[in-house]
Amino acid sequence: MEDPLKELYTEHIDLVCRQYDAALAALAAQGKHYAGIVFAAGGELLYHADDQPIPYRPTPHFARWAPVQGPDHLLIFRPGETPTLIRVVPRDYWYEPPAPVDHPYPEVLPVEVVATAEDAIDSAGEVKDFAYVGYDLEVAEALGIDEEAIEPEELMARLDWLRGLKTPYEVECIRLAADRAAPGHATVRSGARSGHSERALHAAYLAATAHLETELPYANIIAWNEHAATLHYQSKDRGDPPLTANLLIDAGAEVFGYASDITRTYPQSAAPLVFREIVDRLDTLQRKLVDAVRPGRSYVELHEAAHRGIADILHETGVLKVSAEEAFERQLTDPFFPHGLGHHLGLQVHDVGGRQAAPEGGVIDPPPRYPYLRTTREMAAGQVLTIEPGIYFIPLLLEPHRQGGHASAFDWKLIDEELIVCGGVRIEDDVLCTEDGPEDLSRPAVGGHRD
Ligand code: GLY
Ligand code: MN
Ligand code: MN
Repeated sequence: MEDPLKELYTEHIDLVCRQYDAALAALAAQGKHYAGIVFAAGGELLYHADDQPIPYRPTPHFARWAPVQGPDHLLIFRPGETPTLIRVVPRDYWYEPPAPVDHPYPEVLPVEVVATAEDAIDSAGEVKDFAYVGYDLEVAEALGIDEEAIEPEELMARLDWLRGLKTPYEVECIRLAADRAAPGHATVRSGARSGHSERALHAAYLAATAHLETELPYANIIAWNEHAATLHYQSKDRGDPPLTANLLIDAGAEVFGYASDITRTYPQSAAPLVFREIVDRLDTLQRKLVDAVRPGRSYVELHEAAHRGIADILHETGVLKVSAEEAFERQLTDPFFPHGLGHHLGLQVHDVGGRQAAPEGGVIDPPPRYPYLRTTREMAAGQVLTIEPGIYFIPLLLEPHRQGGHASAFDWKLIDEELIVCGGVRIEDDVLCTEDGPEDLSRPAVGGHRD
């Protein structure tokens, strides 16, 4: 029987080739001629004045072609042809050459194996009229490619736009990445009951997902109590928490270069009832927002609906003493939900093209009230978006409201005596937008906080 992943991957390559043929044809129609595109994986970089490498990641546009490990590979794309991968496998005894990946790419793409970056350049053939996508400018120069053909803006806009529309293969990789994260989330959740340190829970996550630290798509957030109020909390405390009110875990996994990005919040034994209620209500709101992911709809409006839903929660739980409508209009939800509702997800955790206006380029700025909203592009079938509303109790953002006209709208006693210690709640899933409605790629694997 044919391997289903190979089938999906074969279609992916076929589709991406046709997309990029069309992109080059569109540019040619505007007088910008490129005979093809060289995608460069990129070289390894070292820490300053050191011989130790910075953990390596390939150029994402290269990674869209194949999940090849290690640096310096080239992918030569010529319109109308299956692209050739020039894979660099050093003959080395200091470091192990990058391991082959259990993936069907060598059966689908012609692969030429060479021993050095210089050999890869030599094997590229006549590419001086090509565009170059990558960060090693010396490689472009060695290939004879003009400076103006290095990541030309009009071409990059088209490639970025296309990365926003996932092929079925890419969706499958993201789904597998969510499946891979699931045992990590389950392990951290059950470990939390015994009150382990953030560091111990992080180590348990790595073991359960069979990831090295450097293979994660982003730094895990494993946050006890008030640490959950730091949106990208990066530390991993060594000590067991003195009390256990809340645990927030925002952690993903990687499969064939694609990321998942998942957050759950688990109130613990010392959590006050009001916080449990906030978590339950935010979970209901999050599922409603996931349900509203539809082609042709505005993500900005969805973000606004999140603020309105959060205003309801803050009113109903007594955190704000004004009506939900008034809370929204007076922007009192902003200190509690200071980030965007979500972002595109794919080869990068914050994937490209989320604010792009059209395939040709242009930027749609977020409304001034929501400067951190990463997604202003209209929703379309094939996009994978995170939906991640949150409610946080962040002293720095609450401080300015303690005096002045808005102060009486807040229940400070409730905030200070019961909620600050919990840090906050975020619930995040990875959602595929389709014509037939949304598909949550992560919740089936990870479950909800009450499951
Ligand atoms: N884990 C980073 C984010 O949710 O955007
Ligand atoms: Mn996210
Ligand atoms: Mn996240």
